[in-house]
Amino acid sequence: MRTQVGIIGAGPAGLLLSHLLHLRGIESVVLESRSYDYITSRIRAGLMEQNTVDLLNEVGLAKNLNKVALPHDGVQFTFDGVLRRINMQELIGRRVTIYGQQLIVKDMADIRERVGGEILYEAEATQISNLESKPSITFIHSGQEQTLECDFVAGCDGFHGLSRPSVPGNLRKDFDRVYPFGWLGLLISAVPPSEELVYCHSPTGFALFSMRSEEVTRAYLQVRPNESLENWSEDRIWSELRGRLGQHDGLSLVEGEILQKVITPMRSWVSEPMQYGNLYLAGDSAHIVPPTGAKGMNLAIADVCVLSRGLIDFYQNNNWHYLNSYSETCLRRVWRAEHFSWWMTTMLHRFYDANPFDHKRQIAELHTVFDSDAGSRLVAENYAGLPLEPWQP
Ligand code: FAD
Ligand code: DHB
Repeated sequence: MRTQVGIIGAGPAGLLLSHLLHLRGIESVVLESRSYDYITSRIRAGLMEQNTVDLLNEVGLAKNLNKVALPHDGVQFTFDGVLRRINMQELIGRRVTIYGQQLIVKDMADIRERVGGEILYEAEATQISNLESKPSITFIHSGQEQTLECDFVAGCDGFHGLSRPSVPGNLRKDFDRVYPFGWLGLLISAVPPSEELVYCHSPTGFALFSMRSEEVTRAYLQVRPNESLENWSEDRIWSELRGRLGQHDGLSLVEGEILQKVITPMRSWVSEPMQYGNLYLAGDSAHIVPPTGAKGMNLAIADVCVLSRGLIDFYQNNNWHYLNSYSETCLRRVWRAEHFSWWMTTMLHRFYDANPFDHKRQIAELHTVFDSDAGSRLVAENYAGLPLEPWQP
């Protein structure tokens, strides 16, 4: 089998890349180890930056999104007994949008399928060879080992994929931070406490109230590292959700059936450079952020814009400029998102080993940022997202 760009992984990064390349007549094949049903029902991210939504509109991927997504002009924070709202629309003229990651993955996969795009499901890449000349990807599909020959490999296979470890260890530098807590993610059949997201700092830990629709709440609770789901009875969940939200005018917790509970660890990670030979890493395969800043999927999409521009310029104009600067261009944004995600995480979570000084300092920081227009604007600019690079030359 042969194609121009071999893409490993049908997450937001891999699928968007194959769509953008298709728009400019470049062929690709996407290899995905999971099934179509699995990737289009896996509940993960929900929050899209303004630029992400604008891009999806520009490239014809936002038809369903525009019908059901929930745009938000503001975002709310509670701490120290107060509720603060940042009006992003007023401060910076941009907003954020809630649309489940599994829905955008489905939209992209279905559009690729409709125009004859090749996505092989249940096809696990097992080896990438010849990265310095004409690469090939070995994969197992329907029990058979096969090979995909290509000009370039896009490693869009997430944090546990094969692409990052295919960069020789002596040429790669990894930057890592593990946080001493995780998130218990809940999907609840109940009206969300507010029409907007609420990020809560509280003495018993962080909580986030988001949503998937007007009737479905998506909530997250900070839990101890290596926490077991068995320790989280429904009674304990409701008591923590209620306690961490606190009492504020306009916010009310409605109980409902808990449809899903999952615990996720929290980590920051960057692998540099994001390119080796003809292998380009994009999205979670190169970097992950703790989810507090809602940056992971948005960053994956930002990488893909840079990569598609490079590949299009190469195929159309035989120009390597954007491919040669791919890693450097992406890493500038990646590190800013790493900083923002780390900042939101450390400012809003309870550190279990914090002493009373640390606690008072954290409360003071929250007032410094959220009682101030300048502080709120800084949060809004980063939360609603920095401008994207153009996806074509
Ligand atoms: P992935 O989505 O991980 O896709 C990689 C794909 O590669 C997978 O489908 C996998 O099956 C496949 N694969 C792996 N190995 C192989 C192989 N060997 N062969 C073939 N296929 C392979 N981000 C936001 O922007 N906003 C949010 O609100 C947000 N909230 C989040 C909340 C939680 C609880 C979590 C866990 C994450 C959140 N994120 C958020 C992060 C976001 O989900 C990820 O950053 C995003 O999925 C990254 O996309 P990706 O395409 O790089 O990788
Ligand atoms: C969601 C997840 C996040 O990590 C976040 O910061 C905001 C929203 C969500 O799943 O809706």
